[in-house]
Amino acid sequence: MNLISMGDLTPEDVIDILEKAEELKEKRKRGKTLDVLKNKSLAMLFEKPSTRTRVSFEVAMSSLGGDALYLNWQDLQLGRGEPIKDTARVLSGYVDCVVIRGGHDVVVEFAKQATIPVINGLTEVEHPCQSLADLLTIYELKKDFAGLKFGWIGDGNNVCNSSILAGALVGMNVVVACPKGYEPKKEIVSRAKKLGGNTQITHNPKDAAKDADVLYTDVWVSMGDEAQKKKRMRDFKGFQINDDVVKMAKDDVIVMHCLPAHRSEEITDDVLEGAHSAIFKQAENRLYAQMALLVRVLG
Ligand code: CP
Ligand code: NVA
Repeated sequence: MNLISMGDLTPEDVIDILEKAEELKEKRKRGKTLDVLKNKSLAMLFEKPSTRTRVSFEVAMSSLGGDALYLNWQDLQLGRGEPIKDTARVLSGYVDCVVIRGGHDVVVEFAKQATIPVINGLTEVEHPCQSLADLLTIYELKKDFAGLKFGWIGDGNNVCNSSILAGALVGMNVVVACPKGYEPKKEIVSRAKKLGGNTQITHNPKDAAKDADVLYTDVWVSMGDEAQKKKRMRDFKGFQINDDVVKMAKDDVIVMHCLPAHRSEEITDDVLEGAHSAIFKQAENRLYAQMALLVRVLG
């Protein structure tokens, strides 16, 4: 089983992973030793920086009795031009699973050539591991998904794309408010529709905020978009989650962000640190969602 797109999962897969995550979270918090992945190895191949994905996968493997090795792209022969298809076949002979963070086409090619499960650790198109942790967080706080309004304010980026598919899989209504030209991928929106999802794209942040159960944002400048920083800073003005936006949502709205955040750009410090913020719970849940995913893939 690979996890390249959130759309690779069925609603049943998602529920299984979330239930497993809750069970593993409870056991780990009680200090129970878990060794279901004894003698299993995970390679973590990263072309871009990472704090959460890298550390949570590494701790997930060690918590489950397995091993993880972090591989910086530039330190491998990949950095000197060894083809991805050769790297994929070689690593398949050493480890049991690979998490890879890089260009989307490269990750897809890697998965095609590998004979072991491949997990997308973020591409410019999707971030499915983030969405699994987000669903776990929403489930913990809201107890159910059906009919919730998930309002996205900001860039229709990788995290947004995976959130749209995640919403479709669990029955949340997703409203994305982004500036013109920063819409989520059309293919993702139509895939979500095929999965039975209800996605609305708007250019008015109020449409996403009004009566929302969940408000979500992410940086205006993702990794790889740095050259467009000046233009993006102009274009995203007004697409910030701040107190006024939170007031438009339901009284018990939760505010989410995948982190890292840029305070006073896409979100204010008050909201990030405020009573509605689920942001650090979300970050913690990366660990448990991924533990469950690894058990599913390797157990
Ligand atoms: N949210 C997330 O994936 O963070 P990192 O880039 O630190 O892994
Ligand atoms: N959209 C951000 C997410 C980082 C976790 C990026 O791609 O940089």
